[in-house]
Amino acid sequence: MTDLSSTPAIPVTIHRGDYRPPEWQVPDIALDFALGIDETKVAAALSVVRQADAPAPLVLRGDGLTPAAVRVDGEVWNDWHMDGGDLIVDLGERTAATVEIETVINPAANTQLMGLYASNGMLCTQCEAEGFRRITFHPDRPDVLSRYRVRMEGDKAAFPILLSNGNCIERGEEGSDHWALWEDPWPKPSYLFALVAGDLVVNKDSFTTMSGRKVDLGIWVREGDLDRTGHAMDALKNSMKWDEAVYGREYDLDLFNIVAVGDFNMGAMENKGLNIFNTRYILADPDTATDLDYDGVEGVVAHEYFHNWSGNRVTCRDWFQLSLKEGFTVFRDQSFSADMGSPPVKRIEDVRLLRAAQFPEDAGPLAHPIRPDSFQEISNFYTATIYNKGAEIIRMMATMVGPERFRKGTDLYFERHDGEAATCEDFVRAIEDGADIDLAQFRLWYGQAGTPRITARIGTDAATGERTLHLAQLVPPTPGQPDKAPMQIPLRIKAFDLDGGHGAEEERLVLLDRAEMAVPLGRYRSRPMLSINRGFSAPVIVDFAREEDELAWLAAHDDDPFARYEALQQLMLDTLVAAVSGKGGGSGAVIEAVAQTLAGRTGDPAFVAEAVLLPSEAFIGDQMVTVDPDAIRRERLALQGAIGAALEAEWRGVLSGDAPAATDLSRGAKGGRRLRGVALAYLAAAGLDDAAALAFRIFSDADGMTERQAALATLAHGDSEERAHALDIFYQRYRDNPLVLDKWFQVQAWSLRPDTVDAVKELARHPDFTLANPNRVRSLYGALTGNQAAFHRADGAGYRLIADLVIALDPKNPQTAAKMIPPLGRWKRFDEGRQALMRAELERILAQRGLSRDVTEQASKSLA
Ligand code: ARG
Ligand code: ZN
Repeated sequence: MTDLSSTPAIPVTIHRGDYRPPEWQVPDIALDFALGIDETKVAAALSVVRQADAPAPLVLRGDGLTPAAVRVDGEVWNDWHMDGGDLIVDLGERTAATVEIETVINPAANTQLMGLYASNGMLCTQCEAEGFRRITFHPDRPDVLSRYRVRMEGDKAAFPILLSNGNCIERGEEGSDHWALWEDPWPKPSYLFALVAGDLVVNKDSFTTMSGRKVDLGIWVREGDLDRTGHAMDALKNSMKWDEAVYGREYDLDLFNIVAVGDFNMGAMENKGLNIFNTRYILADPDTATDLDYDGVEGVVAHEYFHNWSGNRVTCRDWFQLSLKEGFTVFRDQSFSADMGSPPVKRIEDVRLLRAAQFPEDAGPLAHPIRPDSFQEISNFYTATIYNKGAEIIRMMATMVGPERFRKGTDLYFERHDGEAATCEDFVRAIEDGADIDLAQFRLWYGQAGTPRITARIGTDAATGERTLHLAQLVPPTPGQPDKAPMQIPLRIKAFDLDGGHGAEEERLVLLDRAEMAVPLGRYRSRPMLSINRGFSAPVIVDFAREEDELAWLAAHDDDPFARYEALQQLMLDTLVAAVSGKGGGSGAVIEAVAQTLAGRTGDPAFVAEAVLLPSEAFIGDQMVTVDPDAIRRERLALQGAIGAALEAEWRGVLSGDAPAATDLSRGAKGGRRLRGVALAYLAAAGLDDAAALAFRIFSDADGMTERQAALATLAHGDSEERAHALDIFYQRYRDNPLVLDKWFQVQAWSLRPDTVDAVKELARHPDFTLANPNRVRSLYGALTGNQAAFHRADGAGYRLIADLVIALDPKNPQTAAKMIPPLGRWKRFDEGRQALMRAELERILAQRGLSRDVTEQASKSLA
């Protein structure tokens, strides 16, 4: 006898082109939960209605479930069988029925954190993308929308708070038990179902919508965390107001709840009326959270709230359309955060992230278009491409039509598709119709992967002095896509005239839509200073050879702050790449440009702090044919040290005087702190005698986490006595605060010291380290993979450590394990020795028995 359910799953590839509408809809669902930490009984009643013309079996997906007591229209039913984990019910000629099924689950044993699981004594759910099938049998596809009625009952003492989507319509008590009945009036796909039961306290507030409806808001956390929920609440109210003002979107229930949980695979989840969050994106106070943490809370609260329209009211037809909700919602949260803070700084941060996470993905073996054509495990497609490149593609449409027309397009989108499960194509068509633009060629962005490369060159007609910008584009081959067609690429450009003579320059939007194009610039007496892809109007790489003095001029004078930042980054990058390849011409121009920028620091210190940061080691590597991590580290540190030493007085000037009070979260105060952190890092890199003492003093004097963490991170790079002392103080002070303890692990894994891999190995044995908590795993191992020279240590110790982690973690939490694989998949970019070591680790992972679908897909694709 073979037991099919225990044979290792041969990965099945699912294709976008195979989409078929559901044969059965489920207009109504009633769920009854008898709650328990290690045994929860679920009774589900699905009213099903046949959509197919002819009889068709009812396919209910299941994952790890055994059905008990199947009934149809109240009768015990035997016409069902299992197909793998799925339950197939034969309903004969029926066109409608009520199907009842009971299942029993063990939340405490659910280490995957998908479906219903236990976290610290509380029960909570994560259903996107395919977790609902771990709770009960169900079609579990986003184009099946149902009205939910959820009853839950459990021990009053263990679960004093019982929450689900929608409104609580009844509650009661029975002995030591109590129960609640929740009803969500809005039909929703199963991935938006949520349930929470536990001992929680609430921060309550309210918001009055534009039509005057009062919405009760609640942020639920563990006792003791309540005084760290204020910032999240402010962010929620600001988001609600912003979505009304900017997109005309009003909230649609009387209740909006957020629950924070410590064990969570991702950032947060937009379940209808009951968002569930990683504590990391809710809890913040000045003593424990940095300014960047505050921004993260604000951005993620907004993101999940905005999903109520871009995600919930209009959802996705199938998971190939994931970017429909994620790309658009990221664009919306980026715009919101820009409006709440500094637009140029927000843009710089977003582009930095895109270049750090998405460009490498798009250039490697896991490259996929924002609307993929196939996948094996959908959890592997919650990527920087779907999210961040997806957002860039929405942004380009907005740039091409301008804000008013874009709003007409989105209004039409929401109007047309409200209550539906839509596609990316539906979105594009709504923008076309509403904003009145032809997006025929633009659609290629949805289907073609790879970062387009643009080469730019300025030609001069010697006789007339006419200048022409020659542009060419190339979309590189990616897996499964050897040949690409030219795309439509909106480039904001401006050509500055240093000689007078040309008159006023205007910025213009060039739509590059052919392989090559010539753009007349007009007459310039001397070579114009060209600012191109201003504001990063398109997610592309621009190759444009410019002299140092040209970049320096733009870094100082361009009227687009983003372009100023870009010019300085390019100057730094050129200098570093030359140094790494042994063609170094000195750091003079960079030092001067940094000094220039610093001199303007009174304007927007946050901008200055971003602009004077050197490009990351990884980004420097991305410019090279073969990445040399050791040379990159050496040269980057050398340049950082040179800037630190040359501008010592300036950096000390930044640090002189008191830091802004940690409770001051104004733009100016946050920017001031950011610049102080950068200044300290430069002084330390310069190797000044008093650097460690200075960092330690800042660490000790700090009245908040921004300064404290910046000083600790700086100390962590070195080997001073102060380093050990500060790490110890930090640990003793925050050992009971998981989010802060994550930082303690993280700064050590980020350390530029040569022994960091060994330190990480040691830290993994620390009593506070656990594989059960995804935040902790990311703070140690995720930080290591971001530490280029450490992860790529020439003897392969970094690779081995990550592969060991993947192998140990996969049986517990395949989703989080699979996220650690992409760094190993970048082997093609390295020398032969490292290539062999990286491939060997991927092969070792693949040789494990019983590997998850998640890890199998990522590792096998990474070897191709
Ligand atoms: N929709 C969530 C968000 O972006 C993310 C959920 C991810 N879930 C997962 N299993 N990968 O807001
Ligand atoms: Zn999202």
